[in-house]
Amino acid sequence: MLGNFSYKNATKLYFGEESLKYLNNELPKYGKTVQLIYGGGSVKRNGIYDAVVEILNANGKTIVEDAGVMPNPTADKLREGVKLARENSVDFLLAVGGGSCCDYAKAVSVSVNCDDDPWEKYYIRFEEPDCEIIPVGCILTMAGTGSEMNAGSVITNHEQKLKLGHVFGEEVMPKFSILNPRFTMTLPKRQMVSGIYDIFNHICEQYFSGEDDNTSDYIAEALMKSVIHSSLIAVENPEDYEARSNIMWTATWALNTLISCGKQTDWMVHMLGQAVGAITDATHGMTLAAVSLPYYRTVMPCGLPKFVRFAKEVWGVKPEGKTDKEIADEGLKAMEGWMKQIGVAMNLSELGVTEDMIEAIADATVILDGGYKVLDRDGVVEVLKASL
Ligand code: NZQ
Ligand code: ZN
Repeated sequence: MLGNFSYKNATKLYFGEESLKYLNNELPKYGKTVQLIYGGGSVKRNGIYDAVVEILNANGKTIVEDAGVMPNPTADKLREGVKLARENSVDFLLAVGGGSCCDYAKAVSVSVNCDDDPWEKYYIRFEEPDCEIIPVGCILTMAGTGSEMNAGSVITNHEQKLKLGHVFGEEVMPKFSILNPRFTMTLPKRQMVSGIYDIFNHICEQYFSGEDDNTSDYIAEALMKSVIHSSLIAVENPEDYEARSNIMWTATWALNTLISCGKQTDWMVHMLGQAVGAITDATHGMTLAAVSLPYYRTVMPCGLPKFVRFAKEVWGVKPEGKTDKEIADEGLKAMEGWMKQIGVAMNLSELGVTEDMIEAIADATVILDGGYKVLDRDGVVEVLKASL
């Protein structure tokens, strides 16, 4: 049975090759001073920066440059961004980049008018914003996180060895996001497949929980099939616009809160992956890929009917003459084959993790209880060791 829920998505999307021009429609709605947030320079190399600046200038905006948002944005960078926004009385935050830039913009947005330290307030104490929020817009250049249409924001604190997310309310969601699949074409292949696995795992995290026959799980299966299909085309030919556009759209729907409506969710692969990220700073999607199979093989006996359904509906496993366990195993085997085919990290060693780091990663792992089996700390250590 579907539980009770309310649903609203506050982000307006502009999708397609022409979508950047709609920035002209949005900018007049906001004040004059725009903090232009971007990463380590990809947007300068591929021309997106110049195109955005031209539109900002044409709309009479004053630009406050905020460059250098790193993958897995840090608490220190967040504090710098907040300072910059305060010093320049910024009216609007425009993130041009992947999930890191978008997450960072949201974290700045709730912190500019707040005296508390943002890391302590939002990521340690998990408080809600009680100050005026600066509006955020996003021009997405990497498909994966879904940050363009959700209220999530993940920040890493290297001193404390923690990588933690806060899911804010709808007022923190981007006011608009511009999704041009062409903008993702300059992504290195490793980043492209990392994003693809992130998408797939977002769907898994919401699917592998609960036994109910609900609409969300049917939507989830369709999204998984779409991302598997398009990923195989995109790894062969990264220039395939149809595949890249399907991947971008699937990423948004995988984590814009729709498929979690009315059902339990798991999110333990993300908790493990974020802990790996806290210790190693490895690429987000790769951390998820490295721990997924050991985790799912651990919880599978407790959620066997769903893993059987996954095998049959998503991977086309034929059930005749097989036990449920055999069907479920075959499904995970098919998933493993696909992961190898697209080229994601298949274990933690590939990400530089060694046995002596396992305890620290386990310490950084937040344990959630929405999945088929609630791990204790020993269970976390076992999954991490099996992922080495
Ligand atoms: O920094 P630049 O030079 O721009 O390069 C970036 C970065 O090195 C590069 N890149 C992005 N677009 C490009 C490009 N290179 C060439 N051409 C392009 N078009 O890709 C690298 C990775 O970018 P990043 O933004 O870090 O990747 P992603 O979108 O995967 O974001 C990762 C962050 O999002 C968080 C992750 O934990 C991580 O911190 N997440 C946010 C979520 C949310 N808001 O709901 C959920 C996710 O599960 C995730 O946790
Ligand atoms: Zn993710």
